[in-house]
Amino acid sequence: MHRMQHFITPSGSSPFPQIARGEGYYLWDKQGNRYIDGSSGAVASNIGHANSHVTETIKAQADQIAFAYGRVWESEANIRLANRLGAMSDMGYDACFFVSGGSEAMEAAVKFARQHAVATGEDSRWKVISRAPSYHGSTLAMLGVTGDPEFSGPFAPMFKMMPKVRTPLPYRPLSGLTPEEDARKAFEELEVTVHQEGPSSVLAIVIEPVGGTATGGAYAPDFYHTRLRQLCDEHGILLIYDEVMSGAGRTGKFLAAHHWPDCRPDIVALAKGLSGGYAPLGAILVSSEMLQPIRDQGGFAHGHTYAANPQSCAVANAVLEEVERLDLVQNAHVQGERLKQAVKALMQERRSVGDIRGKGLLLGLEIVADQDTKASFPNEVNALAKLKAHCASNGLMMLSRRLSGGVYGEWMMLCPPLIIDENAVGEIVDRLDQSLAAFESQL
Ligand SMILES: Cc1ncc(COP(=O)(O)O)c(C=O)c1O
Repeated sequence: MHRMQHFITPSGSSPFPQIARGEGYYLWDKQGNRYIDGSSGAVASNIGHANSHVTETIKAQADQIAFAYGRVWESEANIRLANRLGAMSDMGYDACFFVSGGSEAMEAAVKFARQHAVATGEDSRWKVISRAPSYHGSTLAMLGVTGDPEFSGPFAPMFKMMPKVRTPLPYRPLSGLTPEEDARKAFEELEVTVHQEGPSSVLAIVIEPVGGTATGGAYAPDFYHTRLRQLCDEHGILLIYDEVMSGAGRTGKFLAAHHWPDCRPDIVALAKGLSGGYAPLGAILVSSEMLQPIRDQGGFAHGHTYAANPQSCAVANAVLEEVERLDLVQNAHVQGERLKQAVKALMQERRSVGDIRGKGLLLGLEIVADQDTKASFPNEVNALAKLKAHCASNGLMMLSRRLSGGVYGEWMMLCPPLIIDENAVGEIVDRLDQSLAAFESQL
């Protein structure tokens, strides 16, 4: 039989293990090896695998109605999900738009912002200032917003690169500055960029409030968030939070925005944990006040076949019901602190761990060649790949990131499902410790 190539596997990499099944925070491959899901896949499986409330909901919804086109039908599932998100986000968002994933959610967020500007007589606004490093998705428009030139690659001539400012990285501040001073400087650079671009041409500023794979859980000090909101208000710029990874409870609050309550974003993008990996889904949250001018001009000029499909919305309702029933937002905070402290304790002996950072269970574990100088491993060491292989052979499946040739450092995303308990934290830390020991002795 002709064997089709499934080209998601990167060239040169050995074939991925084949997944057989999952249960809770465990995964099994076809050979029967068991792994802890140390990064929730791509930080998506927030409630773990094979959750029976969700699997029963999937069957029940499919038996009733799986698909009903969102421009023709409303469904109980999408009405319930919208109301639930309004209540759980609790920041005055009373309108939302459902899509099928994170890139689509971010695309919808900037298109919504632009349509709002046009509908309110501010056609001059179109620039979306974002930060580097950052990741906001892989569609052509989002490549222009993403702050990581590696993703542009051969596509660079095909989209508009948006203005970029520096993301403050507390572990790697500019030379001679404390993390606080560095964040202050980064904010001043943002102010300068707004003025240079011309404030009346700036549509929106986009940030990941707690960073995903591009920064490994980095976030700015409180004052940065407060001043960012003030800057946007001063110039009529919309503030967009990309909470594709940080939202839905991952950081120990339902939205990462809740960590900075005086800095309410105008638009929030969600995906991943929203449906916990059980169905493709993304969403944007806005206020009906912002939506009204767009409605008055005929409605949001955007859509996808699967937007607000009942199957995905029913799944997300069931996932969020589990988040509430099991108090997973609080658990993310408690277990995240426990995990962070345990890794900090490991760092005394495991000298290749440079930093553990993040909020809740959105944690990045940065590896270094030297803890004192924070020097990264040279390219040729291929350190992350080696460490990840040790983790996998010790039954810990990890996602990692080394962007821009390693100039920002390199890290693994320590982001297990939010259902982990104290025992699971112990198990993760033991496996990590064994993997780091094997990795260090191999160097
Ligand atoms: C912060 C952030 N934004 C956007 C995206 C894109 O989401 P998706 O891969 O679902 O398109 C991701 C995915 O990792 C992300 O982490």
